[in-house]
Amino acid sequence: MTVVMKSPLIDIIAGARPNFMKIAPIIQALQFRLASGGSLRYRLIHTGQHYDALMSGNFFSQLGIPEPDVNLEVGSGTQAEQTSAIMVRYEKLLLEHRSDLCLVVGDVTSTMACSIAAQKLCVPVAHVEGGIRSGDWTMPEEINRMVTDAITNYFFTTSEVASQNLRRSGVADEWIFFVGNTMIDTLLANMDRLRPPSFWPKLGLQAGQYFVVTLHRPSNVDGIGQLQEMLSAIGEGCQGLPVLFPVHPRTAKSLPGLSDLPDNLRLVEPQPYLEFNFLVKHAKAVITDSGGITEETTMMGVPCLTLRDSTERPETVTIGSNELIGTDLKKLRPALDRLFAGQSKEYGIPEKWDGKTGERIVAVLEQLFGQPGS
Ligand code: UD1
Repeated sequence: MTVVMKSPLIDIIAGARPNFMKIAPIIQALQFRLASGGSLRYRLIHTGQHYDALMSGNFFSQLGIPEPDVNLEVGSGTQAEQTSAIMVRYEKLLLEHRSDLCLVVGDVTSTMACSIAAQKLCVPVAHVEGGIRSGDWTMPEEINRMVTDAITNYFFTTSEVASQNLRRSGVADEWIFFVGNTMIDTLLANMDRLRPPSFWPKLGLQAGQYFVVTLHRPSNVDGIGQLQEMLSAIGEGCQGLPVLFPVHPRTAKSLPGLSDLPDNLRLVEPQPYLEFNFLVKHAKAVITDSGGITEETTMMGVPCLTLRDSTERPETVTIGSNELIGTDLKKLRPALDRLFAGQSKEYGIPEKWDGKTGERIVAVLEQLFGQPGS
């Protein structure tokens, strides 16, 4: 009698904008291996945390990510509403059709919710970008990271610091795989495809002669006063150069409450991947409260000023082009003045940011789950 073994099935979870560029290289590497006889199958699950074309659909089409096999369609809600809706719907899916591994990326609500649902059904969890920590418990992402890592079996890390954080919390070395950064894989793979948005000529933008700003952290954008002060300080510090501000939907809700916006501020919609990174690549500098963008600016060597008091990505500061300005806006002006005086910091590229992280992850998964002879 021949025993037919079913190929292992990996759930790849994506829910919100910063997840999509992280899963693309993993899916590509899995597809490549499948085409050459690999045994790992995957099922792409979109939780629906981000759902509209600007925050989700455009990224799938531009990055060649296949249509999700399942969309849990949870939509907007509070942290708890989104977490619970994702858990209930993903658990139902697993009960109907179990997988062999739940692979989550990053630190969004979907990452944590799916990890919990899977682990409670004894489906092991792999966390890509495991181990990073800001130490700031007011960020929902930090809670998501801690909870996810507490119940993760296999950790794929972006830096030695992240691996060290995990070792310090008691994770054994054999479960930590320092593989590099899949977000950087995507950036490198698309560098030649970056293209200007249609408003580029209309706004009279010139390379090196404008700033890009992104703000979406609840602590920065939910309070009208704080947002008003931030935008005023940014507008003033940028000395008349255009400040391009792709407005995140959360931030858009606060805009009607603002009185006067700086004259040099140019509000635009959230940009698709290729257009956004074109804008970043050619900017004089980026001012942001995002974490992921500080990795992209580091890779492209664009000065980045981060309006946060902590970062979970210290290598972007110790090695890369990122400067942690903090939330005290008095510190922004001197940093911008230094930039205008041509005193931007020296920078380098962190280890294993080489475009091969997706392949390394799949190689590990094959060792762990692949069938002999495949
Ligand atoms: C989430 C992630 C954050 C990530 C960010 C990038 C968590 C805890 N946070 O924050 O890590 O950096 O995404 O965008 O998971 N909305 C739309 N269209 C959409 C999606 C959302 O209009 O396609 C609206 C929602 O209705 C909500 C707001 O945007 O009012 C915020 O969305 P939400 O998913 O709650 O979290 P983000 O603040 O985007």
